[in-house]
Amino acid sequence: MLGRVFGFLRGKGLIVEGAGKLPEGEARKVDVGDVLAGGKQVILCRVKGKLHALDSVCPHEGGRITPGPLVEGKYALCPLHNYRFDPATGENVEHLCGRAKTYRVEERDGDAELWV
Ligand code: FES
Repeated sequence: MLGRVFGFLRGKGLIVEGAGKLPEGEARKVDVGDVLAGGKQVILCRVKGKLHALDSVCPHEGGRITPGPLVEGKYALCPLHNYRFDPATGENVEHLCGRAKTYRVEERDGDAELWV
């Protein structure tokens, strides 16, 4: 019951079709709206079977966290200075900068619902 109430308050998420097929240890970029007009880029990552969502903007100096294979199969990478981020928490692994923004994401019938 409470889950339905909170779900109503959060509104409906964005459906990302086929996100359930993202392989373990991989990251995929999703554009939410027109990025040049204020939209966002979100990086979906699969670690230990679970889907996570990170904003692509790096909290260090504004580089972009990239899609592709995760470092050591579990860390998202910003190639500008090679900082690694835990997709589950957004924490920088080396603790040299702040945390990347994370978003709620839930898998559903092979797709994902994403709240940004
Ligand atoms: S801007 Fe991303 S690691 Fe420096």
